[in-house]
Amino acid sequence: MGHTCPWWFGCFLVNPIRRLAQRPSRILGPFVRPGMTVVEPGCGMGYFTLELARLVGPAGRVVAVDLQERMLAGLRSRAGASGLADRIETRLATPETLGISDLVGRVDLVLAFYVVHEIRDQSGFFAQVRDALTPDGTLLVVEPPLHVSGVAFEASLACAGNARLQVVSRPRIGANRAVVLVNPTA
Ligand SMILES: C[S@@+](CC[C@H](N)C(=O)[O-])C[C@H]1O[C@@H](n2cnc3c(N)ncnc32)[C@H](O)[C@@H]1O
Repeated sequence: MGHTCPWWFGCFLVNPIRRLAQRPSRILGPFVRPGMTVVEPGCGMGYFTLELARLVGPAGRVVAVDLQERMLAGLRSRAGASGLADRIETRLATPETLGISDLVGRVDLVLAFYVVHEIRDQSGFFAQVRDALTPDGTLLVVEPPLHVSGVAFEASLACAGNARLQVVSRPRIGANRAVVLVNPTA
């Protein structure tokens, strides 16, 4: 826990070859609707961000958050080339905060793909996510099966549970460890 993916690895993560194993439209389609507000912590250079922006459409918004400015710069460049820049806002996080306190109760979906294991204060992370979500808002967490053991994944889910996020399903996303949680209304 706590090792940050180096910026240069972000270039590999946006390689189109990744689509053979992880097609963003197929993974994200069931979770995203036009007009949604989506937050993506640990967006990297935006492998999933561009598809999120396509799916939320012109009335939607994607707030892409990363610890590293070089990742965000890579994402902005790719978003500009795809004509999606106006739907994507980039924010620089710190290890302590995602910087989304202005979005309390306004976020329909949070996508945390291959990032939770890098976060040192997972309890703080899940509390910030819960605060940002609308009642019944959704958090999709996907973690890599080799880096993240089953025990470590369940420990992360315990932190999410302490933040009062509820597990609703464990979708199959390749060989990854994946879970859908909601911010319960009551
Ligand atoms: C393995 S990369 C995954 C990138 C992207 N989600 C993907 O699947 O291609 C993890 C990313 O999370 C970012 N990250 C790590 N800790 C973070 C934190 N506390 N807040 C925001 N981003 C963080 C890293 O800088 C890196 O860009």
